[in-house]
Amino acid sequence: MPHRPLLILNGPNLNLLGTREPDIYGRETLADIERRAREKAESLGHSIDFRQTNHEGVLVDWVQEARDTAAGLILNAGAYTHTSIALHDALLTLAIACIEVHLSNIYKREDFRQRSYISKAALGVICGFGPKGYELAIEALAAHLATGSVHQ
Ligand code: DQA
Repeated sequence: MPHRPLLILNGPNLNLLGTREPDIYGRETLADIERRAREKAESLGHSIDFRQTNHEGVLVDWVQEARDTAAGLILNAGAYTHTSIALHDALLTLAIACIEVHLSNIYKREDFRQRSYISKAALGVICGFGPKGYELAIEALAAHLATGSVHQ
């Protein structure tokens, strides 16, 4: 069986990174983040499939697709994090691990960002470290895949 990629999914408005609220999200673009993620994954012997959509149903379709095609999932669902029971339910169907990522520390922001529907279905959460969070998630996922444990 060919080596399955790590699927990295990005939700709404993340296509605007670089110009979107730079005080909160920084100046790096999503293309910059993809490049950093690819380099990190390749250094650990993994490939990535990196995608973005503004549409909730497309995220659900991609999570379902991951069941048969991905080694693991990294998900920044953007604002759908705080609203999407559909994504939560899709994640519960996965046998592979999912790591939730946010650029910003959602727990020191508005009240409506304090609830995540993704966390309940995630192996772990990384937030508040900007683009570096994607690299940290790749490291954690690669270690989990290598050892079957989050405790390395
Ligand atoms: C975000 C945090 C969300 O609350 C917000 O809606 C986003 C980005 C982050 O990466 O910090 O779109 O997921």
